Amino acid sequence: MMTRTYKIAVIPGDGTGPEVVAEGLKVLKATAEKYGFALELRDFNLGAAHYLKTGEILTEDTLDAIRACDAMYLGAIGDPQVPPGILEKGILLRLRFELDQYINLRPIKLYPGVEIPIKNKGPEDIDFVVVRENTEGLYAGSGGIIRKGTPHEIAIQESISTRMGVERCIRYAFELCRRRNRAKKLTLCGKSNVLTYTFDLWLRTFHEVGESYPDIQTDYVHVDACCMWMVKNPEWFDVIVTENMFGDIITDLGAVLQGGMGVAAGGNLNPEGISMFEPIGGSAPKYTGRQVINPIGAILAGKLMLENLGESEGARAIEQAVMKVLKEDLKGAAAGKMGYSTPEVGDLVLQAIG
Ligand code: IPM
Ligand code: MN
Repeated sequence: MMTRTYKIAVIPGDGTGPEVVAEGLKVLKATAEKYGFALELRDFNLGAAHYLKTGEILTEDTLDAIRACDAMYLGAIGDPQVPPGILEKGILLRLRFELDQYINLRPIKLYPGVEIPIKNKGPEDIDFVVVRENTEGLYAGSGGIIRKGTPHEIAIQESISTRMGVERCIRYAFELCRRRNRAKKLTLCGKSNVLTYTFDLWLRTFHEVGESYPDIQTDYVHVDACCMWMVKNPEWFDVIVTENMFGDIITDLGAVLQGGMGVAAGGNLNPEGISMFEPIGGSAPKYTGRQVINPIGAILAGKLMLENLGESEGARAIEQAVMKVLKEDLKGAAAGKMGYSTPEVGDLVLQAIG
């Protein structure tokens, strides 16, 4: 019998990225062995160190090599030695755009035993998914500066929404909501009272697409109120769909609801192509090299990757192992508060997988 083999592009990246990716890979390799599939890892040295040494950010050759893979596993991009935006736009956003990863999927799930700053809300209240549009909006990069450095300078940053881009994102969210089969409620998060053009398009599309999903209840919230409800009544949410920048912002808030940046994971999905999985905690420069960062986010990003590759048994095993470690072993989920070092947390998850 042929082993199922997946080619994985590994991009450890900057800051604490390599530390957490190492733990994620440890867990992924063990899972592959146990559940009868193989991972062929291809390392890509992208990020600040490579840029400062060579001046290269992301070449066409690298992109082609990545395109030959089945999925991508990323640590973090961004470094204080490089002005903000160069690596983020040149690597992370470019990868999302070039591979047309139009969904940024961010599950917000609180596991038992994890402490959060919100009183009286537990795992039974916090279990929803944010579907963030990942290729348009303010991230499309449209704009510029004129008369730079003069009293008359003008900065323009335009938000782009296309019918195609909005529709495929909304359709994905409806389908996901159906597959999750929980409250079967899809909430559109927007700002229709101010962004009257953008959310006119989003709302019309939402209702039109929704006609094909009579089994799913629809709701709309403004993004500011959405932040309030996420804290006050997180149990109201099942799936939230939103545009790129709002999705960026509300998912940091969402990360806090699940125990912080150290445990949150996301997938940049091209449902018809190559997807990229990453912890959403970022490069965390102040913790770099200290082995105190929580690798659970990266490990759960690995779980999302397996799910996406169709290895649902392995994905479930990782989730179970993470749940055990969070509940029984770790003192806390925050960096430096776990009671264990980064590799020790990886080892605990490994043991729990068995
Ligand atoms: C994220 C990050 C990125 C984003 C940055 C690093 C460009 O904050 O993945 O949420 O804004 O999308
Ligand atoms: Mn973000």
